[in-house]
Amino acid sequence: MKTKMISALAVSLSVSLSSVAIADDEAMMQAAGKEIFNKCTACHSLDSSKNAFGPSLIGVFGRKAGALPRFAYSDALKNSELTWDEENLRKWVAGNDDFVPGTRMRHVEITDKAEQDYLIAYLKTL
Ligand code: HEC
Repeated sequence: MKTKMISALAVSLSVSLSSVAIADDEAMMQAAGKEIFNKCTACHSLDSSKNAFGPSLIGVFGRKAGALPRFAYSDALKNSELTWDEENLRKWVAGNDDFVPGTRMRHVEITDKAEQDYLIAYLKTL
């Protein structure tokens, strides 16, 4: 009886410990992504009401490409029919002008898979 209780306790302890570890990972990825996002802030404002040289990226995850009403997108992006899911964001930051030829966004090239993961984790929070 006693051993049963102890092992149940041990199980619940290890479950809650591992979920803490996951939460930490997520936070760490977002923090790392925020650092990488410094490469983007020159053109992308974090104020949702404002488009800078580039469109606001608030709420970009899951949004259709070229969809903000007050931003003058290139025809290439407007007509791309893309949705900003994980896969498309990965291709975009790896080489936006190869992915969408004719885009007005200056070439970026983040090819490191881990860096892409961090950046996307951060973009999801916006
Ligand atoms: C030199 C300025 C500049 C930099 C630096 C820049 N962008 Fe952009 N970005 C733009 C412009 C301009 C557009 C609109 C492109 C178009 O209309 O073809 C854009 C569009 C986008 C879009 C599509 C948004 C939408 O509403 O469809 C995403 C996503 C994006 N940028 C992410 C990034 C990320 C992530 C970085 C940093 C790694 C970055 N950009 C760096 C200027 C920039």
